[in-house]
Amino acid sequence: MAFPQSVRLVEVGARDGLQNEPEPVSTETKFELIDRLGAAGLRHIEAASFVSPKWVPQMADHREVMTGLKRREGVVYSALTPNLKGLEAALECGADEVAVFGAASEAFSQKNINCSVSESLERFAPVLERAKAAKVRVRGYVSCVLGCPYEGEIAPAKVSEVAKALYEMGCYEVSLGDTIGTGTPLKAKRMLEAVARDIPMEKLGAHFHDTYGQALANLYAVLEEGIAVIDSSVAGLGGCPYAKGASGNVASEDVIYLLNGLGIDSGIDLDALAATGTWITQTIGRPNRSKVGVAIAAQ
Ligand code: HMG
Ligand code: MG
Repeated sequence: MAFPQSVRLVEVGARDGLQNEPEPVSTETKFELIDRLGAAGLRHIEAASFVSPKWVPQMADHREVMTGLKRREGVVYSALTPNLKGLEAALECGADEVAVFGAASEAFSQKNINCSVSESLERFAPVLERAKAAKVRVRGYVSCVLGCPYEGEIAPAKVSEVAKALYEMGCYEVSLGDTIGTGTPLKAKRMLEAVARDIPMEKLGAHFHDTYGQALANLYAVLEEGIAVIDSSVAGLGGCPYAKGASGNVASEDVIYLLNGLGIDSGIDLDALAATGTWITQTIGRPNRSKVGVAIAAQ
């Protein structure tokens, strides 16, 4: 299969990237981050998470972020909504799009959202119905598609079962999360092949974390299969609070450098993105985990 001509990046730095930060990140910093990402050409920015502040304190300012961010024409500002309570709040705050998040692992589902996989799907159904009535699109996430911090190996059949349920429920796109970054390229391909038997490739996204340094290799593998939607976070920020040791998402700068080299269009200004990565890591006192970002900053 040939590479896609263009790829849509879903920038998750302001959500996945910041949700696990031990020190509070100010709402003002989040506004500036989101604005800079839009200026760099990102057209899909996950801005907040309407989850319990007791579970994820770093996302407690979700209302302020969603209502106060400076909107740019043509940019989708989305938010995570695990249940109806989260959805109603996100709708009130003007989220353009929302996302429900399930898992291919029972143990991870319990730790992350406090219910079983089948209970989570039951909870998501009314979220999708209500969002549809409000004409707001819903994205679906499946976590632990290439391994689970509690269960270890995850069968591709389990991933495809959950992905299919989300798709059939009405998610316009399903993002496949290697939450703990343990995947390797052939494994990623096999998992994707299983999922793509039930869901068209153009309705799937790759959401890879770089914990074991495999994210770019895994992305190359799934790009070859035809994946054209990639989730990433500027400077490789991030980690999941319910997946110990999980480091950040693959860095957006590294993904753009790879895509540029393959001649795949993304519409993103790499220098502006790299400057954003330098700025946010300096602002929150974190190392820049984008190799490309570090190299560009050193020029
Ligand atoms: P629960 O305790 O089962 O829910 O949590 P509950 O309905 O019994 O409510 C308990 C309390 O939470 C109540 O408050 C509710 O009002 C409140 P209290 O009466 O104790 O004061 N509550 C809420 N507050 C704000 N917004 C809401 C909400 N819902 C209930 N939406 C729940 C269930 C899902 C809420 C909880 O488990 C939770 O918030 N989990 C968040 C987990 C999370 O955010 N994880 C990180 C994101 S997922 C991820 O990073 C993976 C991804 O990147 C893909 C990948 O990498 O694989 C997407
Ligand atoms: Mg993630």
